[in-house]
Amino acid sequence: MAEEQQQVFEPPESFVKNAWIKDESVYKEGEDYRSFWAKRAEEMIDWYEKWDETLVEDPPYYKWFVGGKLNASYNCLDRWIEKGKGDKLAYIWEGEDGQVRKFTYKELHKEVNKFANVLKNLGVKKGDVVSIYLPMVPELPIAMLACARIGAPHSVVFAGFSADSLRDRMTDAGAKYVITCDGYFRRGKLIDHKTKTDEGIEGMDVKSIVVRRGGNDVNMKEGRDYWWHELMEKADETCEPEVMDAEDLLFLMYTSGTTGKPKGVMHTTGGYLVGAATTMKWVFDVKDDDVYWCTADVGWITGHSYIVYGPLALGVTSIMYEGTPDYPKPDRWWEIIEKYKVSILYTAPTAIRMCMKKGDEWVNMHDLSSLRLLGSVGEPINPEAWLWYYRVVGKERCPIVDTWWMTETGMHIITPLPGVTKLKPGSATFPFPGIKAEVRDENGVVPPGQKGELVITTPWPAMLRGLYHAHDKYVEEYWSKYGLGKFYTGDGAIIDEDGYFWLLGRVGDVLNVAGHRLGTAEVESALVDHPSVAEAAVVGVPHEIKGQVPFAYVVLRQGYSPSDELKKELIGHVSKLIGPTARPSDILFVDDLPKTRSGKIMRRILKKLASGEEQIGDTTTLQNPEIVDEIHRELKDYLNK
Ligand code: WTA
Repeated sequence: MAEEQQQVFEPPESFVKNAWIKDESVYKEGEDYRSFWAKRAEEMIDWYEKWDETLVEDPPYYKWFVGGKLNASYNCLDRWIEKGKGDKLAYIWEGEDGQVRKFTYKELHKEVNKFANVLKNLGVKKGDVVSIYLPMVPELPIAMLACARIGAPHSVVFAGFSADSLRDRMTDAGAKYVITCDGYFRRGKLIDHKTKTDEGIEGMDVKSIVVRRGGNDVNMKEGRDYWWHELMEKADETCEPEVMDAEDLLFLMYTSGTTGKPKGVMHTTGGYLVGAATTMKWVFDVKDDDVYWCTADVGWITGHSYIVYGPLALGVTSIMYEGTPDYPKPDRWWEIIEKYKVSILYTAPTAIRMCMKKGDEWVNMHDLSSLRLLGSVGEPINPEAWLWYYRVVGKERCPIVDTWWMTETGMHIITPLPGVTKLKPGSATFPFPGIKAEVRDENGVVPPGQKGELVITTPWPAMLRGLYHAHDKYVEEYWSKYGLGKFYTGDGAIIDEDGYFWLLGRVGDVLNVAGHRLGTAEVESALVDHPSVAEAAVVGVPHEIKGQVPFAYVVLRQGYSPSDELKKELIGHVSKLIGPTARPSDILFVDDLPKTRSGKIMRRILKKLASGEEQIGDTTTLQNPEIVDEIHRELKDYLNK
C-alpha cells in the first residue's frame, strides 16, 4: 500500500467542536448493551406506551422493547409537526429531467394520511403485506409510511428487478396489493414499468395502484388497476396512526442468499426505528440545518434506513434524486450538491470510482463548500477511492464514515463516529457502541492481521427477526456456522493490530455487483431456465468500477452449439428473469464443469480461472481434474481472440 494510504486521519477540530459525540465514553456506556439501547430508545423515539422489557433473548430469536407501543409514521411525521417543525422540508425531490418537487413535513404528512386512507378503502388491513414496486419518486416513501401508519408491512421490490422477481417476492410474501407506476426516466430514456408489472402479476389475484410519472400510455385493467391520483383525490386527509407493538412487522426486504430463491428479511417496528435513528444521529452527526443526501435507491435497505426511516425519525431535510450520477453530464451530482447546499453525502464506492474515472474537472466545476461529512456504503472502499473522495470531493475538510452493515442488520454495525474516530482509508474502523464483533474461523478467533469471517456477538435492536416463513433457512444462514449467539455475516474480515476492522467482501456464493447483492445461484438458475442450457456455474470476477461482475460458465444441452447469438440470448435471458444488474459480463461455453466427487461444482477454481489467476490450487479432490486444464486453455484462447 502506498504510504499516503496508510496515513491516519484525525477528525478536524472544528468538526469535533460541534459533534454530537465527541469522545469515547459512548463505547464504555455501550458495554451494558441493554441499558445503552434502552436509553437510546427513550431519547430517539416517542412511545405510546413504554416497554416492559428491553430485550428478551431466546436465540436465535430476539425481541426488543417488549410490550412497547409506537407507530413509525407518527415518529417520522406527526411529532415534528407537533414540535413546530411542520414547515421544514422533509424531501427535496429532483427528477432526472430537472423537475423538482418539495415536501415539508406537513405536506408529507398530508400525503401519507391520504394514501393510508386509500389503502384502507381498497381493503388493506393491519398485517396485510403490501408490495411496492416503484422507482425513485416521492410516492415511494409516501407509500411506505402510509403502510406503516395502518400497520400493513411493506415489501419494496427494487424497480430494476424483473417481472419474475416481483412475482416471486409477492407470492412468497402473500401480497395482494402492489403499488407501481406507468414509467420513469433513466438516462433520458422512458422506461415502461407498467407492462413489466402486468407481466409480473398476470393471473394473480391482486390489486394495483399506478402512479403517473412517465406519462406513457398504459393498459389499465378494470377492477384490478387504479390510478394513484384518482384515488388520492377522494381520500380523506386524516388517518389516525395504528398503535403498533414494538415487535410488529414493519417491513420485509428480500435479499440474496446462498440459494436460488431470495429470502424475506423481517424487520420489526420498535428496535428497527431505534437502531436507524441512533445511527443516523451519531454516524451522520446530523443537525437541524443539515441538508442530507443518500444517493441509494429506496428499493434497497440503505434507502429504507437512511432515506426514509432514519432521516425522517430525526426530522432531517433530505434530497431524493431520480436518476444516475452522470446524466446528462458527469457533473450532475456535484451540480445537485451546489444547488441545494448539501452538507452530508452518503454514497457507494462503485459510484465514487465511476466519478473518479470521469475526472476531477467535473467535481471542481462546482462549489462544494457546503459539504461537511461524507459517507460510504455497500462494499469495501479501496484506499485509492477513499483518498480521492476525501481530497477531491471533501477538500480534506470532511471526515468519511465508511459504514459496514447489511440488509439483515438494518443499521450501521461497523462504522466510525466522525467526531471521535481516527480514520484509516479503507477500514470501516470499529463496531458501533453497544455492539461487539469478532473475526474468526473454524478454530476460533483469529489473531490480529489474519483473515477470518466477521461475526456479531451481541444482539442489536435493528437486527432481523427472522426470514419470512423460513425458520430453518434463518438458522442455517446466520446461526449455524459458529453457533447460536454468533451472528454469521458471510463477510471476510481482518482486525489489525490497532483493532481496526477491514472488510474484505462476501466469502460465499453471494456477489456484490456495484453494491447490489446477488446470489450466484440466482443467476445460475436463470441460465438453466433457458432450453439450451444443461448446467451453469457463475462466479464473481473483479471489475474496475463495479467491484465485481458475474461471469458464467455454461454447458449446453445436446443439439445446441456455442455461438455469439446464443451468448447474447442467454445474457438477455438473465436480464429478463432477474434484472440488468445480474447480466453476466461474459459467458464461456464449456464441455463440463469441475466437480468434487460428490458432484458439487468447484466454484473456487472457476473463480480463479475467470479472474486470470495462475495459481489455482489443489485439484486432486475433483472427479474430473482434466477439465480444469481444458477450461484454462479455452479461456486463454478466448481472451486472446
Ligand atoms: C457489503 C447494504 C465493505 C458486505 C447495506 C455486506 C460492505 C453486503 C460495506 C450487504 C462496507 C456493505 N464495507 N462491505 N462499508 N457495506 N458491504 O444487504 O459484503 O445490500 O455483506 O446491505 O454489502 O449488502 P446489503
